[in-house]
Amino acid sequence: MGTGSYAPQTVMTNADFEKILDTSDEWIVQRTGIRQRHLVADGESSATLATEASRRALDDAGMAPGDLDLIVCATVSPDMLLPSTACFVQEALGATDVPAFDVSAACSGFVYALATANGFISQGLYRRILVIGVDTLSRFADFSDRGSCILFGDGAGAAVIEATDRPDRGVRYLKLGADGKGWDYICMPAGGSRKPATAETVAAGEHFIKMRGRDVYKFAVEKMAFLLEDAMAACNLSVDDIDMVIPHQVNQRIIESATEKVNFPMDKVYVNIERYGNTSGASIPLALDEARRNGQLGSGATVLMVAFGAGLTWGGAVVGL
Ligand code: UT7
Repeated sequence: MGTGSYAPQTVMTNADFEKILDTSDEWIVQRTGIRQRHLVADGESSATLATEASRRALDDAGMAPGDLDLIVCATVSPDMLLPSTACFVQEALGATDVPAFDVSAACSGFVYALATANGFISQGLYRRILVIGVDTLSRFADFSDRGSCILFGDGAGAAVIEATDRPDRGVRYLKLGADGKGWDYICMPAGGSRKPATAETVAAGEHFIKMRGRDVYKFAVEKMAFLLEDAMAACNLSVDDIDMVIPHQVNQRIIESATEKVNFPMDKVYVNIERYGNTSGASIPLALDEARRNGQLGSGATVLMVAFGAGLTWGGAVVGL
Protein backbone atom coordinates (compact mmCIF):
# COMPACT_ATOMS: atom_id res chain seq x y z
CA MET A 1 0.00 0.00 0.00
CA GLY A 2 1.05 3.57 -0.62
CA THR A 3 -0.69 6.71 0.60
CA GLY A 4 -0.50 10.41 -0.16
CA SER A 5 -2.40 13.56 0.67
CA TYR A 6 -2.49 17.21 -0.20
CA ALA A 7 -4.13 20.31 1.25
CA PRO A 8 -4.00 23.65 -0.56
CA GLN A 9 -1.66 26.37 0.77
CA THR A 10 -4.31 28.98 1.59
CA VAL A 11 -5.41 28.76 5.22
CA MET A 12 -8.57 30.33 6.65
CA THR A 13 -8.60 30.62 10.45
CA ASN A 14 -11.55 31.13 12.77
CA ALA A 15 -10.31 34.71 13.22
CA ASP A 16 -10.75 35.20 9.46
CA PHE A 17 -14.41 34.11 9.84
CA GLU A 18 -14.88 36.61 12.68
CA LYS A 19 -14.21 39.35 10.10
CA ILE A 20 -17.03 38.27 7.76
CA LEU A 21 -19.62 36.60 10.03
CA ASP A 22 -21.29 36.98 13.40
CA THR A 23 -19.21 34.19 14.96
CA SER A 24 -16.23 33.67 17.23
CA ASP A 25 -13.16 31.49 17.48
CA GLU A 26 -14.45 30.36 20.87
CA TRP A 27 -17.84 29.21 19.48
CA ILE A 28 -16.30 27.36 16.55
CA VAL A 29 -13.65 25.58 18.64
CA GLN A 30 -16.11 24.65 21.37
CA ARG A 31 -18.85 23.36 19.02
CA THR A 32 -16.67 21.72 16.36
CA GLY A 33 -12.99 21.49 17.40
CA ILE A 34 -11.98 23.32 14.20
CA ARG A 35 -9.31 26.05 14.37
CA GLN A 36 -8.45 26.44 10.69
CA ARG A 37 -9.12 24.92 7.27
CA HIS A 38 -7.27 24.93 3.92
CA LEU A 39 -9.08 26.43 0.93
CA VAL A 40 -8.43 26.15 -2.80
CA ALA A 41 -7.23 29.26 -4.62
CA ASP A 42 -7.74 30.35 -8.23
CA GLY A 43 -6.43 27.69 -10.58
CA GLU A 44 -6.92 24.88 -8.06
CA SER A 45 -9.75 22.36 -8.10
CA SER A 46 -10.63 18.89 -6.89
CA ALA A 47 -8.63 17.40 -9.77
CA THR A 48 -5.46 19.38 -9.02
CA LEU A 49 -5.56 18.43 -5.32
CA ALA A 50 -6.31 14.80 -6.17
CA THR A 51 -3.48 14.66 -8.69
CA GLU A 52 -0.92 15.87 -6.14
CA ALA A 53 -2.17 13.43 -3.48
CA SER A 54 -2.08 10.61 -6.06
CA ARG A 55 1.51 11.41 -7.11
CA ARG A 56 2.53 11.18 -3.46
CA ALA A 57 0.67 7.87 -3.02
CA LEU A 58 2.32 6.42 -6.13
CA ASP A 59 5.75 7.57 -4.89
CA ASP A 60 5.06 5.98 -1.52
CA ALA A 61 4.04 2.72 -3.21
CA GLY A 62 7.09 2.85 -5.50
CA MET A 63 4.86 2.70 -8.57
CA ALA A 64 4.50 4.60 -11.80
CA PRO A 65 1.10 5.78 -13.11
CA GLY A 66 1.32 3.17 -15.85
CA ASP A 67 1.40 0.39 -13.23
CA LEU A 68 -2.20 1.14 -12.25
CA ASP A 69 -5.11 -1.02 -13.39
CA LEU A 70 -7.88 1.37 -12.24
CA ILE A 71 -8.51 4.82 -10.76
CA VAL A 72 -11.56 5.33 -8.50
CA CYS A 73 -12.18 8.86 -7.25
CA ALA A 74 -14.68 9.66 -4.49
CA THR A 75 -15.95 13.22 -4.70
CA VAL A 76 -19.11 15.31 -4.51
CA SER A 77 -17.33 18.44 -5.70
CA PRO A 78 -16.14 17.34 -9.14
CA ASP A 79 -14.34 19.74 -11.49
CA MET A 80 -17.32 19.47 -13.85
CA LEU A 81 -20.57 17.48 -13.84
CA LEU A 82 -19.00 15.63 -16.71
CA PRO A 83 -16.47 14.22 -17.37
CA SER A 84 -15.48 12.56 -14.11
CA THR A 85 -12.74 14.03 -11.93
CA ALA A 86 -11.05 10.62 -12.11
CA CYS A 87 -10.52 11.22 -15.86
CA PHE A 88 -8.88 14.59 -15.20
CA VAL A 89 -6.54 12.92 -12.69
CA GLN A 90 -5.80 10.07 -15.10
CA GLU A 91 -4.79 12.57 -17.77
CA ALA A 92 -2.69 14.69 -15.38
CA LEU A 93 -0.85 11.60 -14.08
CA GLY A 94 -0.26 10.34 -17.61
CA ALA A 95 -1.90 7.01 -16.73
CA THR A 96 -2.75 6.42 -20.38
CA ASP A 97 -5.73 4.12 -21.02
CA VAL A 98 -6.16 3.25 -17.32
CA PRO A 99 -9.93 3.07 -16.63
CA ALA A 100 -11.16 5.82 -14.33
CA PHE A 101 -14.48 6.78 -12.76
CA ASP A 102 -15.99 8.72 -9.83
CA VAL A 103 -17.97 7.49 -6.86
CA SER A 104 -20.51 9.82 -5.24
CA ALA A 105 -21.18 9.16 -1.56
CA ALA A 106 -20.21 12.49 0.04
CA CYS A 107 -18.31 12.10 3.33
CA SER A 108 -18.61 8.29 3.08
CA GLY A 109 -17.06 8.45 -0.40
CA PHE A 110 -13.62 7.07 0.39
CA VAL A 111 -15.03 3.97 2.14
CA TYR A 112 -17.45 3.44 -0.77
CA ALA A 113 -14.56 3.81 -3.25
CA LEU A 114 -12.40 1.43 -1.22
CA ALA A 115 -15.24 -1.13 -1.23
CA THR A 116 -15.58 -0.72 -5.00
CA ALA A 117 -11.85 -1.20 -5.54
CA ASN A 118 -11.78 -4.15 -3.17
CA GLY A 119 -14.56 -5.79 -5.20
CA PHE A 120 -12.50 -5.55 -8.40
CA ILE A 121 -9.46 -7.00 -6.60
CA SER A 122 -11.49 -9.84 -5.01
CA GLN A 123 -12.86 -10.77 -8.41
CA GLY A 124 -9.33 -10.97 -9.76
CA LEU A 125 -10.12 -8.38 -12.42
CA TYR A 126 -7.54 -5.79 -11.29
CA ARG A 127 -4.49 -5.92 -9.00
CA ARG A 128 -3.36 -2.30 -8.45
CA ILE A 129 -5.93 0.40 -7.85
CA LEU A 130 -5.61 4.09 -7.01
CA VAL A 131 -8.40 5.07 -4.61
CA ILE A 132 -8.86 8.82 -4.11
CA GLY A 133 -11.01 10.89 -1.76
CA VAL A 134 -11.15 14.57 -2.65
CA ASP A 135 -13.46 17.49 -1.99
CA THR A 136 -13.41 21.24 -2.37
CA LEU A 137 -16.61 22.12 -0.55
CA SER A 138 -15.44 25.72 -0.07
CA ARG A 139 -16.49 26.20 -3.70
CA PHE A 140 -20.07 25.30 -2.76
CA ALA A 141 -20.31 26.67 0.79
CA ASP A 142 -22.51 29.67 1.52
CA PHE A 143 -20.11 32.06 3.25
CA SER A 144 -23.06 33.98 4.67
CA ASP A 145 -24.43 30.88 6.49
CA ARG A 146 -22.52 30.68 9.76
CA GLY A 147 -24.15 27.35 10.61
CA SER A 148 -22.40 25.50 7.79
CA CYS A 149 -19.53 27.37 6.09
CA ILE A 150 -17.26 27.30 9.13
CA LEU A 151 -17.17 23.50 8.95
CA PHE A 152 -15.70 22.84 5.54
CA GLY A 153 -12.11 22.64 4.31
CA ASP A 154 -10.58 21.44 1.05
CA GLY A 155 -8.17 18.55 0.60
CA ALA A 156 -7.34 15.26 -1.03
CA GLY A 157 -6.10 11.87 0.10
CA ALA A 158 -5.17 8.82 -1.96
CA ALA A 159 -4.19 5.20 -1.44
CA VAL A 160 -2.74 2.70 -3.89
CA ILE A 161 -4.07 -0.71 -2.91
CA GLU A 162 -2.79 -4.00 -4.24
CA ALA A 163 -3.96 -7.61 -4.36
CA THR A 164 -2.38 -9.73 -1.61
CA ASP A 165 -2.43 -13.38 -0.53
CA ARG A 166 -1.82 -12.52 3.13
CA PRO A 167 -5.01 -12.94 5.18
CA ASP A 168 -3.92 -10.29 7.75
CA ARG A 169 -3.51 -7.64 5.03
CA GLY A 170 -6.15 -5.78 3.07
CA VAL A 171 -9.85 -5.25 3.70
CA ARG A 172 -11.23 -7.56 6.40
CA TYR A 173 -14.64 -5.96 6.97
CA LEU A 174 -16.89 -3.70 4.95
CA LYS A 175 -20.29 -2.29 5.77
CA LEU A 176 -22.03 0.19 3.48
CA GLY A 177 -25.44 1.72 4.01
CA ALA A 178 -27.71 4.48 2.76
CA ASP A 179 -31.03 6.09 3.60
CA GLY A 180 -32.32 8.31 0.80
CA LYS A 181 -35.16 9.51 2.99
CA GLY A 182 -32.59 11.80 4.57
CA TRP A 183 -31.52 13.39 1.26
CA ASP A 184 -32.36 16.90 2.45
CA TYR A 185 -30.15 16.72 5.58
CA ILE A 186 -27.31 18.00 3.35
CA CYS A 187 -27.95 18.91 -0.26
CA MET A 188 -27.31 21.37 -3.05
CA PRO A 189 -30.78 22.00 -4.54
CA ALA A 190 -29.94 23.46 -7.97
CA GLY A 191 -27.51 22.85 -10.80
CA GLY A 192 -28.55 19.26 -11.50
CA SER A 193 -31.20 17.79 -13.80
CA ARG A 194 -33.97 18.34 -11.21
CA LYS A 195 -33.40 22.08 -11.12
CA PRO A 196 -31.00 23.27 -13.81
CA ALA A 197 -29.04 26.47 -13.25
CA THR A 198 -30.91 29.68 -14.07
CA ALA A 199 -30.39 33.30 -13.08
CA GLU A 200 -33.15 32.74 -10.47
CA THR A 201 -31.54 29.68 -8.88
CA VAL A 202 -28.26 31.57 -8.63
CA ALA A 203 -29.98 34.63 -7.12
CA ALA A 204 -31.74 32.37 -4.59
CA GLY A 205 -28.42 30.80 -3.52
CA GLU A 206 -29.60 27.33 -4.48
CA HIS A 207 -26.15 26.31 -5.70
CA PHE A 208 -24.84 26.41 -2.15
CA ILE A 209 -24.83 23.58 0.38
CA LYS A 210 -27.98 23.52 2.54
CA MET A 211 -27.60 21.66 5.80
CA ARG A 212 -29.79 20.64 8.73
CA GLY A 213 -26.91 20.71 11.20
CA ARG A 214 -28.69 19.35 14.30
CA ASP A 215 -30.19 16.42 12.38
CA VAL A 216 -26.83 15.59 10.78
CA TYR A 217 -25.28 15.72 14.24
CA LYS A 218 -27.68 13.12 15.68
CA PHE A 219 -27.39 10.87 12.62
CA ALA A 220 -23.58 11.01 12.70
CA VAL A 221 -23.30 10.11 16.41
CA GLU A 222 -25.69 7.19 15.98
CA LYS A 223 -24.00 5.81 12.84
CA MET A 224 -20.47 6.19 14.12
CA ALA A 225 -21.36 4.32 17.32
CA PHE A 226 -23.14 1.62 15.29
CA LEU A 227 -20.19 1.15 12.91
CA LEU A 228 -17.64 0.90 15.73
CA GLU A 229 -19.63 -1.84 17.46
CA ASP A 230 -20.61 -3.65 14.27
CA ALA A 231 -17.03 -3.80 12.92
CA MET A 232 -15.60 -5.08 16.18
CA ALA A 233 -18.33 -7.73 16.54
CA ALA A 234 -18.14 -8.85 12.90
CA CYS A 235 -14.33 -9.28 13.01
CA ASN A 236 -14.29 -10.53 16.59
CA LEU A 237 -11.93 -7.72 17.57
CA SER A 238 -11.44 -6.18 21.00
CA VAL A 239 -10.26 -2.61 21.55
CA ASP A 240 -6.73 -4.01 22.02
CA ASP A 241 -6.79 -5.58 18.54
CA ILE A 242 -7.42 -2.22 16.86
CA ASP A 243 -4.40 0.03 16.39
CA MET A 244 -6.36 3.06 15.28
CA VAL A 245 -9.85 4.26 14.44
CA ILE A 246 -9.92 6.82 11.65
CA PRO A 247 -13.32 8.48 11.69
CA HIS A 248 -14.63 10.93 9.14
CA GLN A 249 -13.45 14.26 10.57
CA VAL A 250 -16.93 15.61 11.05
CA ASN A 251 -16.89 17.41 14.36
CA GLN A 252 -14.81 16.81 17.51
CA ARG A 253 -17.96 16.63 19.65
CA ILE A 254 -19.64 14.08 17.38
CA ILE A 255 -16.53 11.87 17.48
CA GLU A 256 -16.26 12.14 21.27
CA SER A 257 -19.99 11.47 21.83
CA ALA A 258 -19.95 8.37 19.61
CA THR A 259 -16.84 6.87 21.19
CA GLU A 260 -18.21 7.55 24.68
CA LYS A 261 -21.46 5.80 23.75
CA VAL A 262 -19.63 2.55 22.97
CA ASN A 263 -16.81 2.98 25.51
CA PHE A 264 -14.10 3.24 22.88
CA PRO A 265 -10.96 5.06 24.12
CA MET A 266 -10.29 8.39 22.39
CA ASP A 267 -6.51 7.81 22.53
CA LYS A 268 -6.96 5.26 19.71
CA VAL A 269 -8.97 7.68 17.58
CA TYR A 270 -7.13 9.84 15.05
CA VAL A 271 -8.39 13.42 14.99
CA ASN A 272 -6.90 16.23 12.90
CA ILE A 273 -10.07 18.28 12.40
CA GLU A 274 -8.52 21.26 14.23
CA ARG A 275 -6.17 21.84 11.27
CA TYR A 276 -8.29 20.83 8.26
CA GLY A 277 -11.97 21.17 9.20
CA ASN A 278 -14.36 18.74 7.54
CA THR A 279 -12.86 17.84 4.16
CA SER A 280 -15.72 15.45 3.29
CA GLY A 281 -14.52 12.53 1.13
CA ALA A 282 -10.87 13.51 1.72
CA SER A 283 -10.94 13.39 5.49
CA ILE A 284 -10.28 9.66 6.04
CA PRO A 285 -7.50 9.16 3.43
CA LEU A 286 -5.88 12.45 4.50
CA ALA A 287 -5.83 11.30 8.13
CA LEU A 288 -4.63 7.82 7.11
CA ASP A 289 -1.71 9.30 5.19
CA GLU A 290 -0.83 11.71 8.00
CA ALA A 291 -0.88 8.90 10.58
CA ARG A 292 1.36 6.72 8.40
CA ARG A 293 3.81 9.53 7.68
CA ASN A 294 4.11 10.65 11.30
CA GLY A 295 4.89 7.06 12.32
CA GLN A 296 1.68 6.35 14.22
CA LEU A 297 0.67 3.59 11.80
CA GLY A 298 3.09 1.03 10.46
CA SER A 299 2.94 -2.05 8.31
CA GLY A 300 0.76 -4.73 9.91
CA ALA A 301 -1.46 -2.25 11.77
CA THR A 302 -5.21 -2.82 11.99
CA VAL A 303 -7.24 0.27 11.16
CA LEU A 304 -10.98 0.80 11.51
CA MET A 305 -12.42 3.52 9.27
CA VAL A 306 -15.90 4.91 9.95
CA ALA A 307 -17.71 7.39 7.75
CA PHE A 308 -21.16 8.97 7.38
CA GLY A 309 -22.51 11.82 5.32
CA ALA A 310 -24.95 13.22 2.78
CA GLY A 311 -27.28 10.81 1.07
CA LEU A 312 -27.63 9.79 3.77
CA THR A 313 -24.74 7.35 3.46
CA TRP A 314 -22.45 5.51 5.86
CA GLY A 315 -19.61 3.05 5.63
CA GLY A 316 -17.12 1.18 7.78
CA ALA A 317 -13.99 -0.77 6.91
CA VAL A 318 -11.40 -2.77 8.84
CA VAL A 319 -8.11 -2.78 6.97
CA GLY A 320 -4.84 -4.55 7.71
CA LEU A 321 -2.02 -2.30 6.45
O1 UT7 B 1 -20.00 15.75 6.94
C1 UT7 B 1 -21.24 16.18 7.41
C2 UT7 B 1 -21.31 17.69 7.36
N1 UT7 B 1 -22.17 18.22 8.34
C3 UT7 B 1 -21.87 18.31 9.64
O2 UT7 B 1 -20.82 17.92 10.09
C4 UT7 B 1 -22.88 18.97 10.54
C5 UT7 B 1 -23.04 18.30 11.88
N2 UT7 B 1 -23.56 19.27 12.81
C6 UT7 B 1 -22.77 20.08 13.54
O3 UT7 B 1 -21.56 19.97 13.46
C7 UT7 B 1 -23.42 21.08 14.45
O4 UT7 B 1 -24.82 20.87 14.43
C8 UT7 B 1 -23.09 22.55 14.05
C9 UT7 B 1 -21.63 22.86 14.36
C10 UT7 B 1 -23.40 22.79 12.59
C11 UT7 B 1 -23.94 23.49 14.89
O5 UT7 B 1 -23.68 23.29 16.27
P1 UT7 B 1 -24.89 23.08 17.27
O6 UT7 B 1 -24.30 22.92 18.60
O7 UT7 B 1 -25.73 21.96 16.74
O8 UT7 B 1 -25.64 24.47 17.19
P2 UT7 B 1 -27.14 24.77 16.76
O9 UT7 B 1 -27.35 24.58 15.30
O10 UT7 B 1 -28.08 24.07 17.71
O11 UT7 B 1 -27.22 26.32 17.03
C12 UT7 B 1 -27.05 26.87 18.37
C13 UT7 B 1 -26.90 28.37 18.26
C14 UT7 B 1 -27.93 29.03 17.34
O12 UT7 B 1 -28.26 30.28 17.90
P3 UT7 B 1 -29.64 30.48 18.75
O13 UT7 B 1 -30.73 30.11 17.80
O14 UT7 B 1 -29.53 29.53 19.91
O15 UT7 B 1 -29.59 31.91 19.14
C15 UT7 B 1 -27.18 29.27 16.05
O16 UT7 B 1 -27.70 30.35 15.32
O17 UT7 B 1 -25.62 28.70 17.68
C16 UT7 B 1 -25.81 29.60 16.58
N3 UT7 B 1 -24.74 29.40 15.61
C17 UT7 B 1 -23.58 30.05 15.66
N4 UT7 B 1 -23.11 30.99 16.52
C18 UT7 B 1 -21.86 31.44 16.30
C19 UT7 B 1 -24.73 28.55 14.54
N5 UT7 B 1 -23.55 28.66 13.90
C20 UT7 B 1 -22.82 29.59 14.57
C21 UT7 B 1 -21.53 30.11 14.40
N6 UT7 B 1 -21.08 31.04 15.27
N7 UT7 B 1 -20.71 29.73 13.37
